[in-house]
Amino acid sequence: MKKTLLGAGFALTLFLSPFQQAFAAETTGELRKFDNVAHRGASGYAPENTIAAFDKALDMKADYIEIDVQRSKDGKLVIIHDTTVDRTTDGTGRVKDLTFEQLRNLDAGSFKGEQFAGEKIPSFEEVLDRYHGKIGILIEMKAPELYPGIEDEVAQQLKARNLDKPQNNKIIIQSFNFDTVKKMNDLLPKVPMGVLTSSTTHTTDQALKEFATYADYFNPSYGIVTKELVDKVHAHGMKISSWTVRSREAAQFLIDMKVDAIITDYPDYVDPRMGVK
Ligand code: G3P
Ligand code: CA
Repeated sequence: MKKTLLGAGFALTLFLSPFQQAFAAETTGELRKFDNVAHRGASGYAPENTIAAFDKALDMKADYIEIDVQRSKDGKLVIIHDTTVDRTTDGTGRVKDLTFEQLRNLDAGSFKGEQFAGEKIPSFEEVLDRYHGKIGILIEMKAPELYPGIEDEVAQQLKARNLDKPQNNKIIIQSFNFDTVKKMNDLLPKVPMGVLTSSTTHTTDQALKEFATYADYFNPSYGIVTKELVDKVHAHGMKISSWTVRSREAAQFLIDMKVDAIITDYPDYVDPRMGVK
């Protein structure tokens, strides 16, 4: 195992509301065993990767928000999923070719509904400052191969806020780019790391053994999740978070598979009571 994993059991109780604690105690005496991660915020209900979606996740009592980090032409870290602004804003072009000011002037809300008109592409700093300490942050390094040096910049922002310390267990970093995960692990050895994949070529014992040398989480798409895989990932000393849940059935499936975290567009589809048998 790479390093100390996120606390379970008692540590989890600290993040439960009094109602949730009472409920958990009342039903079986057992606590839920999985985290609820709002994918790009509560993106089923509000425009993904915006303050509206992150606030909604907070309101819905998700454990974490998941965010996608990229970089503007003039070097500002920004939160957006696609490598172009075309799908989620009223602009066009690649994120890396637009300045922060150009990105900020785009409407990142209307694509989800007119009531969200005027939502902005957030900066990474803004999201860290607004949410750290209030909700966990699962930081995806999105397409880091397009942004040389972005690993150092993300690490700097976290260090500047003391979010790289061992006692902090509510920041996790993940990427589909395994070299970037390795680099981040070297830069921030106390921060939990995750590898993302949707490929079964990454589920062999050999692959999992290698991932476990630098990652704490193996985070597959739910289409490749089986109980055998969950057991294998645990046997290699890692946790497993799976994505992207967009139905109650998919949530129940992953709970039954006993994953450690569920990454969902709909935080309300992931109910702690679903894990109580
Ligand atoms: O957190 C997992 C998930 O975000 C990975 O896929 O494409 O939604 O960034 P994607
Ligand atoms: Ca993502």
